[in-house]
Amino acid sequence: MFIRHAREEDQDDVLTVVGAAFHRQDEAVLVAHLRDNDDIVLEFVAEMAESTVGHVVASPMTVAGNATDYLGVAPLSVKPEWQSHGIGTGLMQFLIEAAKDAGYKALFLLGEPEYYKRFGFTRSHLDNEYNATDSFMHLELETGALTGVSGLAQYAPAFRSASV
Ligand SMILES: CC(C)(COP(=O)(O)OP(=O)(O)OC[C@H]1O[C@@H](n2cnc3c(N)ncnc32)[C@H](O)[C@@H]1OP(=O)(O)O)[C@@H](O)C(=O)NCCC(=O)NCCS
Repeated sequence: MFIRHAREEDQDDVLTVVGAAFHRQDEAVLVAHLRDNDDIVLEFVAEMAESTVGHVVASPMTVAGNATDYLGVAPLSVKPEWQSHGIGTGLMQFLIEAAKDAGYKALFLLGEPEYYKRFGFTRSHLDNEYNATDSFMHLELETGALTGVSGLAQYAPAFRSASV
């Protein structure tokens, strides 16, 4: 498996991977909206034998309406026939390191706690728009980054126009 930054020419393959992973187009439409809004901060693809098999994207988060140095991770996608081969794990590890290197202080996501706890994500004390409890999680990239931080954590506007 080879993980690298997504390039402009990957766009069609990315939408195919995301649609295939979720068995619907909503998340692919979200990625397209994030791109249109210029809200993609980090984006990686995983390749196997020169074919795109996985994808992850991170976009800016606000807290209480204010810009932050936190990112929202979504969606994370692996083609069904390539799932459970460590590709999702590789993409997440790559993204975490890249976000740290770029100086971001925390990552947020909405997902299955059983999967994301392996990367260190824990239930977030911040509010979210999805009435999510255990599944709204964060990972501090700098110890204490979210200590004392409160309010509504929101993904980029594309999430509110998408039906995910
Ligand atoms: C979730 C997803 C990204 C994981 O990627 P992957 O490459 O299949 O996963 P990995 O190979 O890195 O890890 C496999 C492990 O994760 C577990 N796992 C996969 N999906 C899981 C889920 N939804 N809940 C809990 N555990 C999960 C597998 O059981 C396996 O466990 P093991 O290591 O104990 O054997 C991928 O399955 C996928 O694209 N799913 C559909 C889209 C989706 O739900 N995306 C995440 C929400 S944004």
